Amino acid sequence: MIAHLKEFVIACVLSAFWSTSALGQPSQSVEVLHWWTSGSEAKAVQVIKQMMEAQGVHWQDFAVPGGAGENAMTVLKSRAISGNPPAAAQIKGPALQEWASLGFLTNLDGVAKAQHWDKLIPPLINQDMKYHGHYVAVPVNIHRINWLWINSAIFAKAHAKIPKTWKQFFATAEKIKRAGYPVLAQGNQDWQTTTVFESIALSQLGAKGYRQAFIEHIPKVLTSPAMVRSFAILQKMHPYIVHPNNHQSWNQATAEVIHNQAAMQIIGDWANGEFLLAHKKVGKDIRCVPVPGTAHEFIYSVDSFAMFQLTEPNDIKAQQLLAHTIMSPQLQTRFNQIKGSIPVRSDIKLTGFDSCALKSEKAFKQSLKDHTAVPSIAHGMATTNYVQGAILDVVTNFFNTPNASPKKASEKLMRAILAAS
Ligand code: GAL
Repeated sequence: MIAHLKEFVIACVLSAFWSTSALGQPSQSVEVLHWWTSGSEAKAVQVIKQMMEAQGVHWQDFAVPGGAGENAMTVLKSRAISGNPPAAAQIKGPALQEWASLGFLTNLDGVAKAQHWDKLIPPLINQDMKYHGHYVAVPVNIHRINWLWINSAIFAKAHAKIPKTWKQFFATAEKIKRAGYPVLAQGNQDWQTTTVFESIALSQLGAKGYRQAFIEHIPKVLTSPAMVRSFAILQKMHPYIVHPNNHQSWNQATAEVIHNQAAMQIIGDWANGEFLLAHKKVGKDIRCVPVPGTAHEFIYSVDSFAMFQLTEPNDIKAQQLLAHTIMSPQLQTRFNQIKGSIPVRSDIKLTGFDSCALKSEKAFKQSLKDHTAVPSIAHGMATTNYVQGAILDVVTNFFNTPNASPKKASEKLMRAILAAS
């Protein structure tokens, strides 16, 4: 509490100082690139925008639609190459290191020190935010990927039980299908398919095997029986998907779960943001359970903002204020309550958060103790863009090829990863 109060005072002093030249007008602005365009995502962005504008900084929104940020990263690259990057951009995981090594990113150590980031951010996350020991990005949240979302009304009508194993999952899927209800919501986009695949792979490989495969790229693990089984499970899902060939966005798929047009969806808890926005009772109307076989593991995706090197002193001040605001307890609370994620700051009490967020926080803390927290592949937390792209290609081609061989897919995966790394 005292720490929060102290921060609040620091924020007031900083913003008063930074906006003295404003004379009531915002003299500073920040252009911020992100890919948060679904209903709940856009509402969460508003929290950052409003907090910045309340401090006299004009928010220039640079939203590039496209789940998981694939389109946003393409646009960012062309802006940066032409020498005109935005002040801040949503960049995650190892990509931060790449941008920093090319000399694009600015140093946030001053804000980090004033706000004690070293103490507040779990080391697992902190390591991605720093380049050669200096902060180059500020994290805003922690998403859990390995969630299975359940539409309780359809489950009740079909007398279906919540699955804990893959055997139960397919028995449940079959039961729901036979009862005449649509089963699985999933858009046919490479990152959505890979989001499902990485959760399955975790269930088969365990956290250690997952790291050996997707971070250490050990050939024997990439072609192991556990990996072959992972592809086989993914393939088995195909006939249960409501629109298997539809390239719908993740939130269109989530809308199917909201409107009783699908019984389940496997996706990160940004879907929870949509459930909350639709006034669903999370934990009752919509339930969140770990993907079968991953109750003790946690695949994380941390959203973070990197600040680009700018020259105008006012712009630089606005950037530093943005970083400070993102890490403030107020923003971490309000933003994450809307977004479906949990705060990245370890000192925030989750009062007023929904039951899935509470479950996520508990699972995250436990996974840190058990060393079972692993980075998401599909969401750019585990590898370079090249390796990520190679994995996305192999998984998607496999999924879209009827009767493809899971064994051959594992061999392709191994070759593709080795060629890209
Ligand atoms: C993830 C990101 C989430 C959400 C999701 C869908 O990569 O971590 O915040 O935006 O993509 O776009």
